[in-house]
Amino acid sequence: MRQQWVIGNWKLNPRFLDAKTLFETVQTQFGEKKTSCQVAIAPPAPYLGMFVEQVEQLSVVAQDVSTVSGFGAYTGEVSADLLQNMGVRSVIIGHSERRELFADDTPSLQQKIKQARQADLQVVYCVGESLSQREASQAESIVVGQLNDLKDVLTADDWQHLIIAYEPIWAIGTGKTASPEDAQQMHATIRQYLKEHTAYAEQLSLLYGGSVKPENAVQLAACQDVDGALVGGASLEANSFMAIVDAFSQYNV
Ligand code: PGA
Repeated sequence: MRQQWVIGNWKLNPRFLDAKTLFETVQTQFGEKKTSCQVAIAPPAPYLGMFVEQVEQLSVVAQDVSTVSGFGAYTGEVSADLLQNMGVRSVIIGHSERRELFADDTPSLQQKIKQARQADLQVVYCVGESLSQREASQAESIVVGQLNDLKDVLTADDWQHLIIAYEPIWAIGTGKTASPEDAQQMHATIRQYLKEHTAYAEQLSLLYGGSVKPENAVQLAACQDVDGALVGGASLEANSFMAIVDAFSQYNV
């Protein structure tokens, strides 16, 4: 049985006091559950320190990391070493919003992956195609290309510290979800790719992201190669987030 993961990607939300309340509520509700599903929150970077100090059963994930290493004269940057030093153990790299809005191209993503691994952070690597790419039957080749970017910088040992999140861009924040069949098909493609490139393929968790809600989580969780969810909008409300955790918990007993 693979480890199930549900990660709440809060993006640039919510306001500080609301964030504190939400974190505490999620932590309390999760503490009352008996599940071995791993649950994590990826808050905006300025909140990380506070949450890391309070964290009990949950884990805390950074939404991004700098291309530069260590500490020094890099105004505005958050390095992998800084995250590691403050107790953060995982980072999201390659989210489509970073790729599209902040020019995270292949060289900078590869640099971020290298920095994360050198600091011994687990990498939650996002892949996914746009609507026009899917309509042009390019979805699989786009995702394989993004996996190749990863392959070029990981050592044989690094692969075991990886989570992959398949997030079709057309499903993010749109209310449109990939059907369980489409999600499973892409996850099977990713699993096959991993089998060809690493000894850890069967144990790696592959998450689906893109308008995951309590209403569709049960069906997605039932897919053989869907081992969790990266949740945006629905992670900003404790009850809906925990309902998604419940859905995936059934597959990690
Ligand atoms: P969404 O976001 O759940 O709001 O679609 C998912 C994500 O971007 O990770």
